Amino acid sequence: MSRISERIRYVGVNDLKKVLFEGMWPLPFGVSYNSYLVMDEKVALIDTVEAEFADEYMDNIRKELGDRKIDYLVINHMEPDHSSLISLIRKSWPDVRLVANAKTVPMIKGYHGIDTNIHVVKEGESLSLGKTDLTFYMAPMVHWPETMVTWLAEENTLFSGDAFGTFGAVDGNITDYSSRLYGNSDSSDDAFADFRDEMRRYYSNIVGKYGQTVQAALKKLSALEIKRICSTHGPVWEKHIPEVVAYYDKLSRYEAEKGVCIAYASMYGNTSRAAHALAAELEKRGVKYAMHNLCTGNVSYAYRDLFQYETLVVGAPTYNNDIFPPAYNFMYGVGARLVKNRKFAAFGSYTWAGASVKLLNEMAQKFGFELISEGMSFAQAYSPEKCDMAALADKIAAEQNKGC
Ligand SMILES: Cc1cc2nc3c(=O)[nH]c(=O)nc-3n(C[C@H](O)[C@H](O)[C@H](O)COP(=O)(O)O)c2cc1C
Ligand SMILES: [Fe+2]
Ligand SMILES: [Fe+2]
Repeated sequence: MSRISERIRYVGVNDLKKVLFEGMWPLPFGVSYNSYLVMDEKVALIDTVEAEFADEYMDNIRKELGDRKIDYLVINHMEPDHSSLISLIRKSWPDVRLVANAKTVPMIKGYHGIDTNIHVVKEGESLSLGKTDLTFYMAPMVHWPETMVTWLAEENTLFSGDAFGTFGAVDGNITDYSSRLYGNSDSSDDAFADFRDEMRRYYSNIVGKYGQTVQAALKKLSALEIKRICSTHGPVWEKHIPEVVAYYDKLSRYEAEKGVCIAYASMYGNTSRAAHALAAELEKRGVKYAMHNLCTGNVSYAYRDLFQYETLVVGAPTYNNDIFPPAYNFMYGVGARLVKNRKFAAFGSYTWAGASVKLLNEMAQKFGFELISEGMSFAQAYSPEKCDMAALADKIAAEQNKGC
């Protein structure tokens, strides 16, 4: 598992304990924190892992290092899932030189109180390890300001930080010729197919807002002849590089497929009944959809499918003259992710004065979405007469067939 090449060794860990990543995002298949050793005349460690895995991590490093020492610790990203063991590495190898860019330096001081023996690198600068060089490229706001990536030209290998990363711990081999999504009983022989949904969920949940800066980074990296991507989460990509890079490009352009993401919230079931009626009508017309109950399910999955499908339909009852909060919260997150190019419709129940549908429409218009319906606000109980989901499904099916 650990030997990626003679020079590059995997020393990361699988986290199968954490329930919510960043305190918000569920991890049904776990997550991996990847870290790598590059062994040349000098030894460089690329990033670290989550603090609670210190023992396993140090074992992994020592097994590969033998009696050698670490000369450099490259810090591509300061989010604590990768940086929290910087102090431990410095304590264990007191001469280790930290390699970081100028934006990272104050963060290292702030988190670890360390401000000595830091080698500050600029865009395009290289550091010799003996026979090989590490070259550093800045990738600001993918998804933190200090983010950079590290290129090992002799191995055509990109240490990409969170870019091209995915939720899901890695089973089997770490490289994508034979890695599996941990705990997924539907696991296939194709690692990209295995991880694709978890990659989209990771991207939409965490990086989603930064489409423009991801695009800038992809453009910059397109000059490199990449044969291996060592990201900080998920498999090491070798076999599936074209698919992974194309998918990242597609996600960061907010490009979607035909289909509908239905996200609804309901207190007493009336809005919920309408949501299920829409699903049944879409089914009849052969339109693909994904349904999300925002009251009982984590919003993480709804964002995942928002990034998949070109039409978003949101259901919410009126609540204190406003949008029922779970649906408002979801829509707030849609706006925060700067999602573009979506078709939109809203529906919801009220009792004395409907407000939610009008307010949902206003939010969607602010995001630049195209309203494909004026929305369906209905009083009290759901009925097909009050809320015509067959008509909405017709409209969606017709919109989808437009381009065919
Ligand atoms: C705390 C609370 C606040 C509400 N505020 C409003 C309101 O401002 N205007 C309104 O017409 N209905 C309001 N309602 C009524 C709901 O919109 C109505 O019961 C609706 O049918 C609920 O839809 P659901 O069955 O999908 O949860 C409120 C209900 C609750 C419990
Ligand atoms: Fe991160
Ligand atoms: Fe990360």
